[in-house]
Amino acid sequence: MSMELKSRSFKLESAVILLAALVLLATAFLLALYLRTERQNAELSWRSDTLTDPVVPVDSSSSDYPKLMFYKDGVLVVNKKHGLPSDYSPGENEEALASLKNLIAAGRAAGVDLINSWSGFRSYETQALLYSSYVAQDGVALVDTYSARPGFSEHQTGLAFDLKDSTGDLYRIGDSTYDPATDWVALHAHEYGFIVRYFDATQAITGYGGEPWHLRYLGIDLAGAVYNSGLTLEEYLGVPGGGYVD
Ligand code: DAL
Ligand code: ZN
Repeated sequence: MSMELKSRSFKLESAVILLAALVLLATAFLLALYLRTERQNAELSWRSDTLTDPVVPVDSSSSDYPKLMFYKDGVLVVNKKHGLPSDYSPGENEEALASLKNLIAAGRAAGVDLINSWSGFRSYETQALLYSSYVAQDGVALVDTYSARPGFSEHQTGLAFDLKDSTGDLYRIGDSTYDPATDWVALHAHEYGFIVRYFDATQAITGYGGEPWHLRYLGIDLAGAVYNSGLTLEEYLGVPGGGYVD
């Protein structure tokens, strides 16, 4: 072979090797990109806290209902349309608990019949026991108006607390004179970062009848904004509420 031919063949081989290396590099890059996206998607499908839209459609009656945690604008929403995984068990939220104690102290100083005792965090299992004991007594239709099915209680978030009165009963339970427009807790809870979550007038939206004792912690800014809006949490955030999907 002439020198010129040898040199041309060498150049061709080098170009082919360079091209192959480039193709290999590009493939590795695309593969890494694909794997990263897949991993991010997998994470998102479990922790949906970066989503701003409802995770729908969901069928809470089916046993494989995923019970993803649903956040809207950074707020964990739990209602009959949005449940929690059965193994979500954060315990009582420290910040909420400290605020609750301040609220109770302030209420007591203002002469409100409150005691330093409450019902706060409830695990999935505890809620299951509670719900089934209520069902044995009252039947599903009635119980669904006052107790959440396991996986659908705000108490499982560690951010909800039931206040109690000096008889040890739930605050103002069965009090026919209850009016949120004059009740100290309903009027002042937001100053401590809480909202009263359930009122008789909003049952169609929240899914439950009035519970003057049930507080949900949102932090002072958001609780104030929700309180001043006069809306339920569902309406304020623009998320579905009402009954279960089944
Ligand atoms: N009583 C409220 C709705 C609950 O069970 O979480
Ligand atoms: Zn409650």
